[in-house]
Amino acid sequence: MPSRSVFIVLFSFLSLVSAHTVITYPGWRGDNLHSNGTVEETTGLGTYADGDDYLWPYGMQWMYPCGGMPTSQNRTKWPVKGGAVAFQPGWFPGHGTAFIYINLGLGTVPPNMSFVMISGIQLIGPTKDPYPGTFCLPQVPMPANVSVNVGDNATIQVIETAVHGAALYNCADITFAEPEDVPEVNASNCFNSSQITSDLIFTTTSLKEDSESPAVEMSTNRYGYLTTALAVLFGLIWL
Ligand SMILES: *[C@@H]1O[C@H](CO)[C@@H](O)[C@H](O)[C@H]1NC(C)=O
Ligand SMILES: *[C@@H]1O[C@H](CO)[C@@H](O)[C@H](O)[C@H]1NC(C)=O
Ligand SMILES: *[C@@H]1O[C@H](CO)[C@@H](O)[C@H](O)[C@H]1NC(C)=O
Ligand SMILES: *[C@@H]1O[C@H](CO)[C@@H](O)[C@H](O)[C@H]1NC(C)=O
Ligand SMILES: *[C@@H]1O[C@H](CO)[C@@H](O)[C@H](O)[C@H]1NC(C)=O
Ligand SMILES: *[C@@H]1O[C@H](CO)[C@@H](O)[C@H](O)[C@H]1NC(C)=O
Ligand SMILES: *[C@@H]1O[C@H](CO)[C@@H](O)[C@H](O)[C@H]1NC(C)=O
Repeated sequence: MPSRSVFIVLFSFLSLVSAHTVITYPGWRGDNLHSNGTVEETTGLGTYADGDDYLWPYGMQWMYPCGGMPTSQNRTKWPVKGGAVAFQPGWFPGHGTAFIYINLGLGTVPPNMSFVMISGIQLIGPTKDPYPGTFCLPQVPMPANVSVNVGDNATIQVIETAVHGAALYNCADITFAEPEDVPEVNASNCFNSSQITSDLIFTTTSLKEDSESPAVEMSTNRYGYLTTALAVLFGLIWL
């Protein structure tokens, strides 16, 4: 089955807050670039109920599965055969290099985010200080052995792990749609900034062609592909 890659438009969240990841496409659950309270107030816990409020001394994005954000009502249509995911990875110090994982949770309020779409893309940013820039995968495949129908709800989870192994979580809620019903994604909302390079470490099985999954076809003419530096010296990056 040929998969027609029709992509969506998104908006860019360019608010200048210094922390964490921002999912720019599909739209995230909401702004979770937020911290409050102190570690003393929570006695070392990552989050702590303070009456009806919660305190997040380390920031919300450290909380599995969706960075402290509940399921949202405003879903983005996303292609049933997989589609684009774009995000800004450099909103937190210490992420000069990072591994990116993208998972799917099935249902309106997914019981888990255990269906792997992208496993372990290494990003190499220009610095370990917060940096600007967007990274976009135009055709994130559906997880192996998962089939969904038009109209099904799901959640895309983007995880970024720092050099020390701790992970930031962020989610976008979607409804699966026919590719032709999804607004086109193009270079305006899906692009790779030149200062971020990457190295594909692992892929899910559906990234490879097999009889079960559609061949990953990308409308390459829509994108100005940037050359990506793939050679990475581990000795240099794990500083
Ligand atoms: C959904 O609504 C929240 C709260 O208004 C907003 O922050 C978020 O960006 C919206 N997401 C989408 C996909 O529209
Ligand atoms: C701390 O931030 C969270 C998330 O924005 C908010 O829900 C909570 O009310 C805040 N807590 C206080 C005490 O302001
Ligand atoms: C998908 O989620 C929306 C709320 O965002 C809900 O109104 C709708 O009923 C859900 N669809 C299904 C098939 O559960
Ligand atoms: C994750 O959720 C799915 C339903 O979406 C369920 O079938 C599966 O058993 C769950 N996996 C785990 C490890 O709980
Ligand atoms: C998908 O299903 C096939 C056949 O049942 C199985 O061999 C394979 O391990 C499954 N892949 C994953 C990632 O679960
Ligand atoms: C990208 O696609 C949207 C429609 O989805 C269109 O409005 C916009 O002009 C396109 N931008 C470019 C640069 O092609
Ligand atoms: C961004 O870089 C990744 C890794 O090289 C690549 O798979 C993807 O297609 C690029 N995105 C765009 C929009 O060119």
